[in-house]
Amino acid sequence: MNVLLLGSGGREHALAWKLSQSSILRSLHIAPGNGGMESLGVNVDLDIMDFAAVERYAKRNDIGLIIVGSEAPLVAGIVDFFHASERTNVMVVGPNKKGAQLEGSKEFAKDFMWRHNIPTARYRSFDHTEVAEAVKALQEFRPPFVIKADGLAGGKGVVITESVSEAENVIRDMLSGTAFKDAGRKIVIEEFLEGKEVSMFAVTDGESFHLLPSAKDYKRIGEGDTGLNTGGMGAISPVPFVTDEFQEKALNQIIIPTIKGLKKDGISYCGIIFFGLIRVGSDPYVIEYNCRLGDPETEVIIPRVKSDLLHLFESLCSGLLSEYDLVTDERAASTVILASAGYPGAYETKKEISGIDDLEGIDGMVFHAGTKTSRNKTYTNGGRVLALTGRGTDVEDALKNSYRMAEKIQFDGAYYRKDIGADILDLA
Ligand code: AMP
Ligand code: GLY
Repeated sequence: MNVLLLGSGGREHALAWKLSQSSILRSLHIAPGNGGMESLGVNVDLDIMDFAAVERYAKRNDIGLIIVGSEAPLVAGIVDFFHASERTNVMVVGPNKKGAQLEGSKEFAKDFMWRHNIPTARYRSFDHTEVAEAVKALQEFRPPFVIKADGLAGGKGVVITESVSEAENVIRDMLSGTAFKDAGRKIVIEEFLEGKEVSMFAVTDGESFHLLPSAKDYKRIGEGDTGLNTGGMGAISPVPFVTDEFQEKALNQIIIPTIKGLKKDGISYCGIIFFGLIRVGSDPYVIEYNCRLGDPETEVIIPRVKSDLLHLFESLCSGLLSEYDLVTDERAASTVILASAGYPGAYETKKEISGIDDLEGIDGMVFHAGTKTSRNKTYTNGGRVLALTGRGTDVEDALKNSYRMAEKIQFDGAYYRKDIGADILDLA
């Protein structure tokens, strides 16, 4: 089968790496891809939001399956576009526009959870005509206040503040469109939950599902979870506090009710549901849903999948998911992100990277996030540059391998957090 993978980050490199090992893959095309993926498939210069261009490419190259890495094409309706297409009958992994609203609208997601009795923080939502009501509603919550832009805001749409006056300003800035344009002209205010976070992933066709390994990511730029939010600075899998008991609770209280809820609401969903959970006491609550895999979580969960990933996606799209046997690896994985100086603020690119080919004897692999190759040299081309995935018998062991790689790979201004996993392993 010819496969087209949409995206260009570490998540897509990990997917491409795994797909390239599939026994049913004929050719792999990646749009737009990055420097690390050139040896795994053909990098294609396509605007992935231009669905007609994606369709033309798919038709010309006899693509049988499209895998969508990030949320934007899904929320914009790429699945609906291909379902309606008379020119191709290519299968697309991912939910339709309505299902993708689980990520595309916080209000939709919260109303969905409320309707289906899925544990989540108490909330209220407001639109741009209700500024005074939203400000007044702060009285119903205790600080810290959690204020979320309803729409997609590139991971930056959540503000948490102790200060009432800052909360009021955030509400005004969001609802007026100043902060996040249309994405903020509706907001959700919710109760702050205290606990440890974990990401769980279900591959579902709306009836049956398989659970991928769980992971914990580290979102802040600074050690000890301080400083600005980023796309993610590292991840580990498995997550020690996801015991059998916790997983059972997550399944029975959240994952199964979500899949049943979608069906009850008449929303067909064929793709991945990412459950951003928080453990409060010993119980799971949903912080957010996403409609795709996580980045950098994918860089630790995909290496732990033993079975054929393309076969999984093909089974998903052809109604055979329940017959698929998902085999995972007991061994742990960790990933440490090597970022450009200045990230998540302004940063420079085009710094030459050295040491990637000098990792012999280290159990792990390097996934490229923001790189470009030119004349056999690799250069930085983004804020998050490389994901250094270590393997080991346990997370501690895996982390040693990630950090061995981090010491060997260099570029001007390279930054990484030295405390990935430390909170969980009590190494801090
Ligand atoms: P989200 O984009 O909804 O995942 O939120 C980004 C981050 O904000 C989450 O990963 C949490 O760390 C934090 N967060 C969001 N909602 C809450 C909440 N209700 N209570 C505590 N922390 C939250
Ligand atoms: N790592 C969080 C995300 O992919 O949204």
